[in-house]
Amino acid sequence: MAMLKSSLAFLVLAFAFFFCFIMSTGSYVYFQFVQQWPPTTCRLSSKPSNQHRPLQIFTIHGLWPSNYSNPRLPSNCIGSQFKGILSPQLRSKLKTSWPDVEGGNDTKFWEGEWNKHGTCSEHTLNQMQYFERSYAMWMSYNITGVLKNASIVPSATQTWTYSDIVSAIKTATQRTPLLRCKRDPARNKSLPNYQLLHEVVFCYEYKAKKQIDCNRTAGCWNNVDIKFQ
Ligand SMILES: *[C@@H]1O[C@H](CO)[C@@H](O)[C@H](O)[C@H]1NC(C)=O
Ligand SMILES: *[C@@H]1O[C@H](CO)[C@@H](O)[C@H](O)[C@H]1NC(C)=O
Ligand SMILES: *[C@@H]1O[C@H](CO)[C@@H](O)[C@H](O)[C@H]1NC(C)=O
Ligand SMILES: *[C@@H]1O[C@H](CO)[C@@H](O)[C@H](O)[C@H]1NC(C)=O
Ligand SMILES: *[C@@H]1O[C@H](CO)[C@@H](O)[C@H](O)[C@H]1NC(C)=O
Ligand SMILES: *[C@@H]1O[C@H](CO)[C@@H](O)[C@H](O)[C@H]1NC(C)=O
Repeated sequence: MAMLKSSLAFLVLAFAFFFCFIMSTGSYVYFQFVQQWPPTTCRLSSKPSNQHRPLQIFTIHGLWPSNYSNPRLPSNCIGSQFKGILSPQLRSKLKTSWPDVEGGNDTKFWEGEWNKHGTCSEHTLNQMQYFERSYAMWMSYNITGVLKNASIVPSATQTWTYSDIVSAIKTATQRTPLLRCKRDPARNKSLPNYQLLHEVVFCYEYKAKKQIDCNRTAGCWNNVDIKFQ
């Protein structure tokens, strides 16, 4: 019995050390996988509008190693610079799932995301794994289809609440996503207030394998209706 107790104590201690080790080697705690609604991205873009591609499907914005204390960090870590997408198979997958809908240079978009975010989790996912894993995440749930099945489809007039949209996605994924909204730059101030759905975030644990609940809620304004258009 005493032996059992001491080995249990040892296990707890070992786990505590292991946990501290993890916390000190990586400055991130979990991943945010961010998908954008291209029409909203384009509406807000300052790039020339003749280059915009307002595709009607959610596409990847990025896979961001994150921590709870500072959601914008870490970023631009010391690591290898973007080497380019070497495999033609991966390249063609990313052309569909991760296009640069504002400017048209997909490679530049991938390079920017790798250098800013991917470098911070390079000890977990190397460059090829970072892009392959992101594609697999995009494939795992078709948000556009999930929303369509819940009758949430682009509309100029209809509005939804934050929880309408979250519940529809949660029913499919069993995990709480996070929504990010933007102000409509063209909103006529005399009309009722609303915000535009811009991005849907899935959260993943440290290894980017298992989806977890997102627990931040600051991505949209509270109690303001959401337009998806
Ligand atoms: C969050 O990230 C910042 C910037 O990299 C780092 O200073 C901080 O220690 C991190 N916090 C945790 C809990 O990992
Ligand atoms: C696209 O971006 C990549 C990476 O920054 C650059 O090497 C390439 O020249 C750009 N292509 C065009 C057509 O501008
Ligand atoms: C996702 O669903 C949308 C809407 O049903 C459909 O247009 C699109 O082709 C689907 N994408 C994939 C990759 O299956
Ligand atoms: C939408 O519903 C159809 C019919 O029930 C189903 O076959 C399809 O898998 C659903 N799509 C998504 C993305 O959940
Ligand atoms: C804003 O909307 C109101 C009501 O529909 C309309 O009377 C007004 O002319 C609009 N203003 C602008 C600047 O579009
Ligand atoms: C989110 O969950 C993590 C892990 O359970 C916790 O450390 C963090 O404080 C939570 N953040 C918020 C904003 O609730």
